[in-house]
Amino acid sequence: MKNMQSISIFAHGFLLVMLIFSHPSSTQAQEVEDEREFDYVIGGPIGPEKWGEIKEEWSLCSTGKMQSPIDMSNPRVERVVNPYTLNRNHKPSYATLKNRGHDISLQWEGDAGSILINNTEYALKQAHWHSPSEHTINGRSYDLEIHLVHMSNDSKIAVMAVLYTLGIRDSFLSMLEANISSMINQKGQSVYSGIINPRDIQTSRWLYYRYIGSLTVPPCTEQVVWMISRVIRTVSKSQVKLLREAVNDYAENNARPIQRDRCK
Ligand SMILES: *[C@@H]1O[C@H](CO)[C@@H](O)[C@H](O)[C@H]1NC(C)=O
Ligand SMILES: *[C@@H]1O[C@H](CO)[C@@H](O)[C@H](O)[C@H]1NC(C)=O
Ligand SMILES: *[C@@H]1O[C@H](CO)[C@@H](O)[C@H](O)[C@H]1NC(C)=O
Repeated sequence: MKNMQSISIFAHGFLLVMLIFSHPSSTQAQEVEDEREFDYVIGGPIGPEKWGEIKEEWSLCSTGKMQSPIDMSNPRVERVVNPYTLNRNHKPSYATLKNRGHDISLQWEGDAGSILINNTEYALKQAHWHSPSEHTINGRSYDLEIHLVHMSNDSKIAVMAVLYTLGIRDSFLSMLEANISSMINQKGQSVYSGIINPRDIQTSRWLYYRYIGSLTVPPCTEQVVWMISRVIRTVSKSQVKLLREAVNDYAENNARPIQRDRCK
């Protein structure tokens, strides 16, 4: 009897752990989770120029007319100053850090709040890092870029981005350093990070670039609202190195090249 009980406690514990660590893919803003299917090797068999040919569902990566990333001098980009266009309402919630192979992604399990754009509410799902930056400003690329991926109830996507240049360490990444170190080259591994407050990711309060583009990883889904902070923040060299090391076996760098506007 006692044995049965402890087995059942063990089983429940196991189930709980499974629940925490195997997050349903529906909430991951449609980004591809399996990392080996594409990479960032220019000219390689599954590199960025080939993404659209790897799977039919990824064809927008080659044929899409509003692909990301782009340079901020592109005429599609608007400078937004009016704070009321972005109503940021993020809140702390439980999160798991996952090594997706092509990047490190912080996935909120519970309600991490939302942003309101044009009366559409987009809930925060996850954040991940690209190095070097994917978006460029007047042709200049930066050392790191974070994407905060949001999704509305009808599956519309909005991404807030912040670019970083080398300098003083970023306090948000500092908080996650132990967790990131524990998953170096552990593709598919998840660690529970506790309660993470998305407000600790510092963005600009008022100044944004805004344009309509796509996800920068397959399936390159379009009609994504991009809000890119015009205030550049800093990150230390060792923090960028740590993020690189964590995915090193799979991607030396993980920035999709700038996309040309394709003629309509
Ligand atoms: C918000 O609505 C305005 C007016 O309808 C439109 O011009 C603008 O493109 C919209 N912005 C976004 C990000 O959807
Ligand atoms: C989506 O729908 C749920 C349930 O109706 C609601 O609570 C939530 O605020 C809605 N918005 C987002 C962005 O999830
Ligand atoms: C991850 O970070 C959390 C919060 O700081 C900590 O409690 C946990 O032990 C860390 N896990 C690992 C594997 O480093």
